[in-house]
Amino acid sequence: MSATFAPATSSPDPERALETLTDLVRADLEACNRLIVERMQSPVALIPQLAAHIVAAGGKRLRPLLTLAAARLCGYRGDRHVALAACVEFIHTATLLHDDVVDESALRRGEPSANALFGNKPSVLVGDFLFARAFQIMVRDGSLRVLDILASASATIAEGEVLQLVTQNDTATTEEQYLQVIEGKTAALFAAATEVGAVVADRPQQEAEALREYGHSLGIAFQLVDDALDYSASQAALGKTVGDDFREGKITLPVLLAFESADEEERGFWRRVLEDREQSEGDLDRALSIMVRRGTLAATITRAREYGARALDALASFPDGPERRALAGIVEFCIARAR
Ligand code: IPE
Ligand code: IPE
Ligand code: MG
Ligand code: MG
Repeated sequence: MSATFAPATSSPDPERALETLTDLVRADLEACNRLIVERMQSPVALIPQLAAHIVAAGGKRLRPLLTLAAARLCGYRGDRHVALAACVEFIHTATLLHDDVVDESALRRGEPSANALFGNKPSVLVGDFLFARAFQIMVRDGSLRVLDILASASATIAEGEVLQLVTQNDTATTEEQYLQVIEGKTAALFAAATEVGAVVADRPQQEAEALREYGHSLGIAFQLVDDALDYSASQAALGKTVGDDFREGKITLPVLLAFESADEEERGFWRRVLEDREQSEGDLDRALSIMVRRGTLAATITRAREYGARALDALASFPDGPERRALAGIVEFCIARAR
């Protein structure tokens, strides 16, 4: 293997990896953020008010960063990727608004969620507005291929969320179903975000597929870690309420594995709290201690590492350089969130 096509390795400092990527595409990201603010405007004042609340609360801008870096990795020198990165973030933001209503979440990005502050109805409707804006941006871009990728991802996200809804509170949910849920609700947008970067650069299909595979595997790893953090993180670090998944009876991998390895008494516990949704004080702590004892949080992170390795493999065919190194660093960043 030549030095140019050496396997992609991640950066030595995962905590800095997001900064490194942000620095690398800073001008593009600033242009993307300006476009987000510009395109969320509307004469109907509640729309920019609510949208500004969630946009200003921050967020990592991980998905638009992936689009920007993927385009650069493919040698793109134009500016279509900036609008498409904004489009990706609009889709993400729309899903967050809807998701927080569905999950009855009170916190998002360290702030009261839009549903907590403005109510469910405005959150759903402004989410619809942001989705529609995303499609306007795609139409303006003019590429049917881009439209196909992002429209398909949008449909897949909704499928993932609906599938999750129907497996909720069902301890018979299989790992395969769980994987289908997270592929839909999370990995689909990561995959689309990176694929679009290659597509605007007009690179061969093989490169678009490699970047899609990178995004897909990264997205799965990201959600696996997020599902572990929903139990093990501190609220301040997460910016979301810890234990939301537990309260909703979501069958995420740490729970699924704990149920599989449960003894009779634990099985009764999981059935009561997840299926019957009879929860009282101390149950979340008990769930956490079972998971720690049974090693299911650690097993979830191990699984995330496996997907992270797949994401790195997918980068291996690209020439070494700052973009590839930054994208490799993001893999470790996503996994190191679990620390
Ligand atoms: C939150 O995504 C939704 C999940 C897929 C878990 P992020 O953690 O990327 O959210 P922000 O944009 O940084 O707030
Ligand atoms: C994340 O769902 C995926 C989408 C928002 C579509 P979750 O419900 O697992 O994510 P958080 O914990 O609310 O960020
Ligand atoms: Mg949620
Ligand atoms: Mg959800």
